[in-house]
Amino acid sequence: MKTELELNEKILAVTNRIREKHPELLEYLNEMPITIPYEENPTINVKALSSYYDSLVALVEDYEYEENTIINGQPENTLHLPIKDIVKMEQDNSYEDLLTEVNDITISYNDVGEGIVPVIFVHGFPFSKSMWKGQLDSLKSSNRVIVFDIRGFGQSTNNKANVSMDFFADDLVAFMDKLNIDKAVICGLSMGGYIALNAISRFPERFAALVLCDTQCIADTTEKKEGRYKTIEQINNDVKDVFYDKFIKTVFHADSLTNNMEVVENLQNIVFANSKKIITAGLAAMAERSETCSTLAAIKIPTLIICGREDELTPLAKSEFMQERIKGSVLKIIDDAAHVSNLEQPEAFNKYLQDFLNTLNAAKGFKPKAERTSMK
Ligand code: MLT
Repeated sequence: MKTELELNEKILAVTNRIREKHPELLEYLNEMPITIPYEENPTINVKALSSYYDSLVALVEDYEYEENTIINGQPENTLHLPIKDIVKMEQDNSYEDLLTEVNDITISYNDVGEGIVPVIFVHGFPFSKSMWKGQLDSLKSSNRVIVFDIRGFGQSTNNKANVSMDFFADDLVAFMDKLNIDKAVICGLSMGGYIALNAISRFPERFAALVLCDTQCIADTTEKKEGRYKTIEQINNDVKDVFYDKFIKTVFHADSLTNNMEVVENLQNIVFANSKKIITAGLAAMAERSETCSTLAAIKIPTLIICGREDELTPLAKSEFMQERIKGSVLKIIDDAAHVSNLEQPEAFNKYLQDFLNTLNAAKGFKPKAERTSMK
């Protein structure tokens, strides 16, 4: 039987989904029976929460089924994972999902470990904070690590029809303000790197160090832009396979696609859990982003660049280009990895990151808790 805490987390996840995707259903939540918590009898409490959770899931599943039937003439559920699977995925994440209000939206995040300068991870497109689970697991004993869902992705909400790298970077800095974080180490993968570079060029004083993973500083070429708008059209016309299947194949190394199916399927689930609306808005935001190469020479903080040797989306040459322009930066290349090097070769990725963070911690005289206790 599930614990009260587990049930409350599941209820929160479904409620967030309703709030973001179907706010018109919110009024029904007040009408749903939920027994007042009965502390002296935890079994009854768990039963009440469990039946409330089941009724919420049924409400959303019925509603999404009806919605798809009405819109498309026949049931189809391929764009959204069934709600139970999404909730299960979140449970697998095993970190407490925290929520905060920033720029009139709700940001969902995890915040674990301790350290002088927090490390904030910014995910790529069209992923969510769940893509950083391996880094949270590995780094939390020596650093304060924070992952968050960019507006509209994962469990964070969005209140704008159009989004942009400027918006995403503004949210990041407002999120840091909300958490009283004056300076952070920022680690962005791919679109997360576009956001990190945008934020550093506009708010340089807010960052203590930079990690750029499988990313680039150039803007889209005309051809790339056209490709993105064509994809938007295809997604809007429900030709989903073109984007979803092809995209997943491009981000992984051939070996991962055959020998690491669990990682591939996990990322697929993360992608499918995002709405069509934010995926198309994200594509337009990337197409319209400005270049940041001209800002690289001004970066004066320690910088680590990581790239999968076989990254096709943001090839190694793009990382080498940035490394030549950011003074003192270090480039680490990960073998047998493509665009999502943190997922494909987590050990190598985490080691490079940990070594970089250890040097920063040592320079600030910070000893991780584990080291402090072992010295006693
Ligand atoms: C990403 O992984 O964030 C995107 O694929 C990057 C891009 O398409 O430019």
